[in-house]
Amino acid sequence: MDKRTCSVILIVCALAIALQVFVLIPLSPDILHLPPTSSTLLAPSNSKLQEVDKLGEGLLKKPEAIAVDKMGVLYTATRDGWIKKLYRNGSWDNWKHIDSDTLLGITTTAAGDLVVCDAENGLLKVGEDGVTVLASRVNGVKIRFADDVVESADGNLYFSIASTKFGLHDWHLDVLEAKPHGQLLMYNSSSNETSILLDNLAFANGVALSADQDFLIVCETWKFRCLKYWLREEKMGQTELFIDNLPGGPDNINLAPDGSFWIALLQLVPNGLEFVHRSRTLKHILMCFPKLSKWAIGVNNKATVINVASDGKIIRSFDDPTGKVMSFVTSALEFENHLYLGTLNCDFIGKLQLTTP
Ligand SMILES: *[C@@H]1O[C@H](CO)[C@@H](O)[C@H](O)[C@H]1NC(C)=O
Ligand SMILES: *[C@@H]1O[C@H](CO)[C@@H](O)[C@H](O)[C@H]1NC(C)=O
Ligand SMILES: *[C@@H]1O[C@H](CO)[C@@H](O)[C@H](O)[C@H]1NC(C)=O
Repeated sequence: MDKRTCSVILIVCALAIALQVFVLIPLSPDILHLPPTSSTLLAPSNSKLQEVDKLGEGLLKKPEAIAVDKMGVLYTATRDGWIKKLYRNGSWDNWKHIDSDTLLGITTTAAGDLVVCDAENGLLKVGEDGVTVLASRVNGVKIRFADDVVESADGNLYFSIASTKFGLHDWHLDVLEAKPHGQLLMYNSSSNETSILLDNLAFANGVALSADQDFLIVCETWKFRCLKYWLREEKMGQTELFIDNLPGGPDNINLAPDGSFWIALLQLVPNGLEFVHRSRTLKHILMCFPKLSKWAIGVNNKATVINVASDGKIIRSFDDPTGKVMSFVTSALEFENHLYLGTLNCDFIGKLQLTTP
């Protein structure tokens, strides 16, 4: 082959790949707007999350979320499909098994059941007698990627859909695409009907109710902010900003006994890779290679949780700045003066004693 033929072949190959990437794969990622780096809302990074006690180490495969019932029994859902209980005497119980590796947010109900978000199967109720599906469709469309849930005093369930486009195993593609496919849903427990309250959310993640149930908070992970959704009569259905410019993508949020909130923050963009998230072209290419594209998301290198007052002011924060002990911390639940930390990268729940801020 002469040089010329060689060049022609190379050019044809390059064109074929470009055609494949830009024309045949219909992706149109948007620019990700990162919070200003001057938003140093937080005190200097500390290593508090490296001081945790490890509960159930080796027994818990990536326990994403945690709930506690009226008796003080702690629950978590793991990647191998177990709903596990931790009794007050310190012993673990493999309580119920669900054939799923996508169990996410959980909440205990007034009736004594557990409600679980399954990113493949919708909203499930787990009780002593077994598992029932509460909601698997909304407006005739299958519910995918149910993420977090909370029960209000009237028995209704508010829950988030992180993405109607991507699933849990491809969640990073939703961040790369940076187009809002998230929703806030409500399951009405008297009519058994599910409805959409908010649409076009940027990866709707944690949901929590305020202490007096005046409003609901829903976190939008890749918009680095949380919204307030009013439930009180005169403002019903209105939304406003609760907190923005967070120094990480907010994951789960839980109400604390004093009326403040604990929010886990994900480091979505690794330091130095901001340029990737600002380039539509680079993101388009990356999204064609899902395995490779995980490299552009940095959740396993760090852990941060923040305590936010009900008026949206940050009170305190705890970190593992290098992810040495805990990384990809997805939730923080306060119970009896301790913080319990869920994660999608460790095989234990972190337990940290709290002192007054
Ligand atoms: C701990 O409490 C549970 C629930 O009451 C009980 O089933 C279990 O046997 C107890 N374990 C120990 C070691 O006492
Ligand atoms: C709602 O579901 C429950 C449990 O399946 C059932 O007993 C009840 O009749 C249903 N209510 C309505 C209004 O469909
Ligand atoms: C739940 O459904 C019942 C029966 O259809 C209805 O009366 C009630 O207003 C609904 N609740 C909410 C919060 O929409």
